[in-house]
Amino acid sequence: MAGKSKTVYICSECGYESPKWSGKCMGCGAWNTMEEDVRLPQKSAVTASRPIHSFSARPLSEIDADDEHRIVTGISELDRVLGGGIVKGSVVLISGDPGIGKSTILLQVCSALQSGLNILYVSGEESAIQIKLRAKRIGLHSGQVSIMTETDVQAVCEYINSAKPDLVIIDSIQTMQHSDISSSPGSIVQVRESANLLLRTGKSLDIPIFIVGHVNKGGDIAGPKVMEHIVDTVLYFEGERNQPYRILRAVKNRFGSTNEIGVFEMTEAGLREVENPSAMMLSGRMSDVSGGCITCIIEGTRPILAEVQGLVTATGFGNARRTATGFDYNRLNLLLAVLEKRMGLYFSNLDTYLNIVGGMRVDEPAADLAVAMALVSGLRDIPIDENLIAFGEIGLSGELRSVPRANERVNEAARMGFKKCILPKACLKQITGTPASMKLIGVSRLSEAIAFIK
Ligand code: TYD
Ligand code: MG
Repeated sequence: MAGKSKTVYICSECGYESPKWSGKCMGCGAWNTMEEDVRLPQKSAVTASRPIHSFSARPLSEIDADDEHRIVTGISELDRVLGGGIVKGSVVLISGDPGIGKSTILLQVCSALQSGLNILYVSGEESAIQIKLRAKRIGLHSGQVSIMTETDVQAVCEYINSAKPDLVIIDSIQTMQHSDISSSPGSIVQVRESANLLLRTGKSLDIPIFIVGHVNKGGDIAGPKVMEHIVDTVLYFEGERNQPYRILRAVKNRFGSTNEIGVFEMTEAGLREVENPSAMMLSGRMSDVSGGCITCIIEGTRPILAEVQGLVTATGFGNARRTATGFDYNRLNLLLAVLEKRMGLYFSNLDTYLNIVGGMRVDEPAADLAVAMALVSGLRDIPIDENLIAFGEIGLSGELRSVPRANERVNEAARMGFKKCILPKACLKQITGTPASMKLIGVSRLSEAIAFIK
């Protein structure tokens, strides 16, 4: 189909397309995000220039997909998040703040994979020498990794086509450039087309590809939300920059569960797997200080203990300040309202700061009880028993509601040496076997739990 080239404008935040430029995106409301994209008829369409697929269809029953279709990296925290290893032919986007450890973990994947696999590491960000220095630091000494410092995505794909490596790492997609497209690297069009070309190359040769994607100020993958749609798996590397702990989370996974997490610690010699996250979360805890309460949350399939801290102080001037780190701000306000209305505990003239220690993010209602108890402990300035943990959802009437997997939570607390557990009464029937040292306190109202802070 012959025709004229067409100019469209695409929002780099949300991918909204418009025939006219505007200062504000009509799709998501972001300012200065509309980027020009020239659509040439036929030629620039990458699909038309590179017919990689032959047209054929096979019965589903004839396609064999067994577990051997996965490459186990040997980094068990990563394998867990991927759903049991890297699926051949899959494209995994790994994203996170700068300096969080994306390049490091991928280099460690190279190091952990058993020999015999050829890995291509394409870096548009660092020189070969820089990569070598990093590899030395993490103790990677295998000849199976080839480094390619190239930003032309077509050259990269041609190389993949001829060398047929077993795994490809692209660091990062924002540095890749497709020469048919005039816009600058990192723009939404470049990123989308580069990712599409890599995706088709990888899928046609059954080669898995890891792609590093940067995040923008808002924490989204820079430029294209479209990237998230086209890849098979999206992993986010989270963590506070000034804390050594890193959590790898799957937010999309076509080949596994999305609620698994992997916990790592950044050390002198790269990332180290954390096998006992509860111990990590509780390290450095002070037992005789008010405002701290331990809870047990479920991350994926794992129970993890977390410390909730509440600091309540007199408001200096104006309105009371409320902040929540690692916890939903609106949920904090809701719990404060329940404490005021149902318990007669007033926070309105007090600044309230809530923090989940260790850079953890807690989204489960099961943490409600520990949050309320930490706040009351902070308000009364009375420390909570150091051997006590609490979990349970709080309803608007101040009632405690059942949460799932109570048995695992109690057992994790017992394993870490806790002696008492306050939990919703309705959860008691879920408990099947706990060590004799653990005392279970079933409560049906918030007031009964708060009574333990004295
Ligand atoms: P990097 O993997 O380069 O981050 P990204 O690719 O996500 O931008 O991680 C760099 C950070 O990690 C940097 O601040 C240094 C630190 N680091 C260590 O602490 N120990 C190590 O062994 C390595 C390789 C990096
Ligand atoms: Mg990097």
